[in-house]
Amino acid sequence: MVDGKAVYSCMMYAMQAIRRKITTIEGLQRGNELDIVQKSFMEGGGLQCGYCTSGFIMSARALLDSNPNPDLPEVKDALVGNLCRCTGYTKIFESILLAAKAQQQNEKGKKPKSS
Ligand code: FES
Repeated sequence: MVDGKAVYSCMMYAMQAIRRKITTIEGLQRGNELDIVQKSFMEGGGLQCGYCTSGFIMSARALLDSNPNPDLPEVKDALVGNLCRCTGYTKIFESILLAAKAQQQNEKGKKPKSS
């Protein structure tokens, strides 16, 4: 992600990254804590190979940062540039919707209770 937006890394020159905030899959983890998208891919069976999974997770993270409650068509639209030639996308879509739900539950848990 560049400045919080998913990009195609193969379509960027290195000099375009100067003074930009770059986030890679390794940057999602906080200490020993995986990002909620990474956890949801594990729980939802969205993990596939090492070629495509990182891109799916980064696109999902960018989507949930801009739209915390996407529906299935919005998830599919956000992943339009991510391809897997091996298997299906159903578990990936389900994992992202699972991540959205988990993220919303975490946010609700953080809100202070009104008295
Ligand atoms: Fe990753 Fe197919 S499982 S490209």
